[in-house]
Amino acid sequence: MAQGSELASNSPREHWGGRAGFVLAAIGSAVGLGNMWRFSYLAAENGGAAFVLLYLAFTLVIGLPVLLAELVVGRGAQRGPVRALAHFGGAGWGSLGILFVGAGFVILAYYSVIAGWTFRYAAVGLLSGFAADSGTTFEAIASSPQAILWHLGFMALTGWIVAYGVRAGIERSALILMPSLFVIVLGLAFYAATLNGGDEGYAYFLRLDVGKLWNADVLAAAAGQAFFSLSLGMGAMLTFASYLDRSHHLPNESLTIAGADFGVAFVAGLVVFPMIFALGLQDEVGESTVGALFITLPHAFEVMGGVGRVIGVFFFAALVVGALTSAVSVLEVVVATCIDEFGWSRPVASGTSSAAIAALGILPARSLEILGWMDQLAGNILLIAGGLGLAIFVGWVMDDPVREVSVGASGVRWFGLWRVLLRSAVPLGLLLVLANALRNLIG
Ligand code: PHE
Repeated sequence: MAQGSELASNSPREHWGGRAGFVLAAIGSAVGLGNMWRFSYLAAENGGAAFVLLYLAFTLVIGLPVLLAELVVGRGAQRGPVRALAHFGGAGWGSLGILFVGAGFVILAYYSVIAGWTFRYAAVGLLSGFAADSGTTFEAIASSPQAILWHLGFMALTGWIVAYGVRAGIERSALILMPSLFVIVLGLAFYAATLNGGDEGYAYFLRLDVGKLWNADVLAAAAGQAFFSLSLGMGAMLTFASYLDRSHHLPNESLTIAGADFGVAFVAGLVVFPMIFALGLQDEVGESTVGALFITLPHAFEVMGGVGRVIGVFFFAALVVGALTSAVSVLEVVVATCIDEFGWSRPVASGTSSAAIAALGILPARSLEILGWMDQLAGNILLIAGGLGLAIFVGWVMDDPVREVSVGASGVRWFGLWRVLLRSAVPLGLLLVLANALRNLIG
């Protein structure tokens, strides 16, 4: 244990400027393409309301405990994931941190490609309006050499923010970007409510088909999405928490983060589904793939004419904002680790890591198939395995997690339950999900 505190005193660690800064940055990590693009396409593919309900249940029973576990480990160790795990569990556990960094590479590489498309849609919508033939446009956007350029541009922007550091880069951008995102998404939901014929869309999204609740694939998709959307299982929340001081009430912070994340996903559903049904485009989404939303929504915006163009630009702008604050948190895991392990300066660490990830991203930028495959690998396997490892670590290995979580949060009564969940339901649930994913992979 002394090892960690000695390390911590080597160099003064940067800390968040304020509570709002940390909370918005963590919400910024959670809220991203996952809430709008991934959530909608999975909900469409897995039967609407049943998926939504399961996703909420997994957020509460598995997501929240793991989120709190990440915050506890990060704040306690004041180091990036590799050192933090080694600090509480010995050097062997540091290798779980290496898995986290590897997951970060895979996720950011393809995430940035999608963010690049999004950026391009926002720009094209603004400058020349959405094209009538959205399917062809999507193909052109997703598989032309320009997809690589937009991806590289997005990675450069992400690396630039992270190079500025926790306060001047990550916190400051979150304080500006996240409130704008909330306003835009809410505004879009109000607009969608005024459309004629949206009712069927709401029904699809909200009316429960009980039979679908027990489907293994729907269950697994919902669990994977709960993890992906909360940025769990790869140390992003852990790393952000390593810049916290000990005054924070971690259980409250985790409730706020998870509540906001679910809230934005839910409201995004209230935008996407009524809009698609109102315009009679539901069949386009039916055969859902990673690209569906990028074909159907621009189509919808185009059909709506002038208003559609404005709405579309706002929609894609919100996606860009969400993607950027999430990408920053993934890159920060890699950067914090390079700083810890190699003693690099932050700008060097950020430049090198973003260049390496950008290079890996050229593969998914050239092939939608590789992109879809990386998304499945990340969401269904890497994050779940990482979360499983972390739950076991905090539940069974870490010395006294309950003491650690009580710092700044005395008087909370459900810590015991938290630990029980981390020891039992959480690893068991994650193990089942992982087994299902591996079976699908092999089959
Ligand atoms: N949570 C982010 C989203 O919903 C994606 C993400 C996953 C970010 C894992 C960090 C870590 O878009």
